[in-house]
Amino acid sequence: MRGVILAAGKGSRLFPVTLHIPKPLLPIANTPTLCYGLERLREIGVSEVCIIVGDNRTSIESAFGDGGEVGMRIAYATQTEPKGLAHAVSFAEEFVGGDPFVLYLGDAVYSDSLNALRAQFEESGCENLNMVQHVDDPSRFGVAVLEGDRILKLVEKPKTPMSNFAMAGVYFFRSAIWDAIRDLTPSARGEYEITDAIQLLVERGHDVRAGIYRGRWFDTGTLDSFLDCSRFLLGNGVSIGAGATVDAQMRNCVAVGEEAEVRCESLEDVTILPSARVEVSGRIEHCILGGTIRHEGDLVGQILWQ
Ligand code: DAU
Repeated sequence: MRGVILAAGKGSRLFPVTLHIPKPLLPIANTPTLCYGLERLREIGVSEVCIIVGDNRTSIESAFGDGGEVGMRIAYATQTEPKGLAHAVSFAEEFVGGDPFVLYLGDAVYSDSLNALRAQFEESGCENLNMVQHVDDPSRFGVAVLEGDRILKLVEKPKTPMSNFAMAGVYFFRSAIWDAIRDLTPSARGEYEITDAIQLLVERGHDVRAGIYRGRWFDTGTLDSFLDCSRFLLGNGVSIGAGATVDAQMRNCVAVGEEAEVRCESLEDVTILPSARVEVSGRIEHCILGGTIRHEGDLVGQILWQ
């Protein structure tokens, strides 16, 4: 089975650092975000992947090349404009051919293997299987109404959700999705939604199912979710990249990138990006920092690149 990873977004909720390091390459616990996704796919036997890129193509391609270093074969396709997930997937049609494939949203990090989902997809023979998770705040997500493991209805970011099952960023498809994507019209927010394409599969009578994921799922797209994921990966520990120097008291969950220099009173729940120069007279807490930063006093809850 081949894999498609979407990585063409702008990462705007992590500006300004994602203006300097594309979101898919942003290190979480000193490993580029996309590496976690590649590993989850490799683990379920996917050896050929197409990464959908945008303006960030050059940097992503130079980071992963043909995939040899991560034990996969990687191809790239460029989404001309970020017009939605279904639009992004459509650029992989030639790569996938008519075969089954797994779609992975590039921002996501998962604690556990996706093996059970792959098995469910294959054993059921269904047209499409979507990973879902029970959440408290479904209106931020695509929401699925289930009967057993069948999906009866799907709505993207509903104001009044009909269930607590959120679409959790991994989708297995066979070939009917391509026609559904071609027949889509833009949503209220002007995007071609993958959720709407799957709803079309339901309306066309295809066997569309859900697989519940019970591991931890991190969407890494905001300061809080990024640091939450980092905290999970570091397990309250500290990761210091090669050639980095730190002159500070380090508490929990600190990742300092390669060749970075940091001087401050204390560090807690912080990511310092590679080659950063950071000098702060007080403590640094709950931040992602890059570039050259000099600051008097404490720095708390900031995404900064100066
Ligand atoms: O996180 C799960 C949610 O992801 C699902 O519950 C929703 O149904 C699904 O629509 C999606 O919602 P988001 O609004 O959170 O998606 P986001 O814009 O963050 O994009 C997800 C990934 O896809 C991200 O890695 C960037 C990439 N992307 C996004 C767009 C809009 C593209 O490659 N091209 C695009 O045009």
